[in-house]
Amino acid sequence: MEVNETMKVIFDTDPGIDDAMALLYLSKLPKIDLLGVTTVVGNADIATTTRNALFLKQRFGLSAPVVRGAGRTLDGVDKAEPVIVHGVNGLGEIDIPAIDDSDLHPAEASQFIIDTLKAHPGEVTLIAVGRMTNLALALRAEPDVARLGKQVVIMGGAFGYQGRSGNITPAAEANIFGDPVAADEIFAAEWPVAVVGLDVTHDIILDTDYLALLSQEVGENGALLSQMCEHYARFYREIMGLSGVVGHDLLAVTYALHPEWFETRRGPVLVQRDGIAVGQTIQMPETRKGGHPDWANRPPQTVCIGVDASKVLAHYRETVSR
Ligand code: BDR
Ligand code: CA
Repeated sequence: MEVNETMKVIFDTDPGIDDAMALLYLSKLPKIDLLGVTTVVGNADIATTTRNALFLKQRFGLSAPVVRGAGRTLDGVDKAEPVIVHGVNGLGEIDIPAIDDSDLHPAEASQFIIDTLKAHPGEVTLIAVGRMTNLALALRAEPDVARLGKQVVIMGGAFGYQGRSGNITPAAEANIFGDPVAADEIFAAEWPVAVVGLDVTHDIILDTDYLALLSQEVGENGALLSQMCEHYARFYREIMGLSGVVGHDLLAVTYALHPEWFETRRGPVLVQRDGIAVGQTIQMPETRKGGHPDWANRPPQTVCIGVDASKVLAHYRETVSR
């Protein structure tokens, strides 16, 4: 069932091919009031992810502002760009026209997040599908904004379900590995966080037939997605032996709308901040007796551990075809 009220959303992103899939989804959902698209370094540098967000805003006819965010992460560690996954331009080497950035919002992303949460207390859902640097900067500047957020839905992390413990390393998912300090601060804050990680995103495979249908049914933007996915699919074919692509970021949007399609586990979450397992996400399940001091004083968060993939894929196709 669709949500009945309009949902106010800030989309925090590092476009990124699956970020583009998620943004198209958001643009077609009538119950979503997209208040802003904030950008972060990740799938490419900050100039590139911001340029890509401006390009996608134009292509998808969005009215929400694009707001530039962090180009450096809180751990101070520079990471290589995942060119093999998203291409040098972050969008699978499609042709991107010169973009006029006069359309860029004048604020910086963390301040935009603070101002927007204050303007709509208790109403805004943050959907964050890149490194969590902008959200953590907002919390560091004004810790009380955590109480003003309705919910934070992140694509990130891996908890070992179905053997899924990491993609960028055997222990870490890329968005968390990209800024483990920021992610750890997000999980510790007093706002409800829902974690859509590899445990569920690897169930969302857009296979070759599905992508061909999108290309036919979704018009110019479907063709654009399928063009981007040629690069993305090469990575999944060559590295993982998959016939199709994984729709990681779009699943965070689905969760915001349809949490009932997910199986979840509650409990506080920690991120390993350094060492060989840096970026590992570890939850203390609420059902575990005795607990452990490292997780004490952290609020319980919601981790997705199962999903009805056929419902998600049908909903995505039906929505973006509108
Ligand atoms: C995540 O990493 C990025 O490459 C994708 O856009 C997604 O947000 C998957 O691990
Ligand atoms: Ca992303």
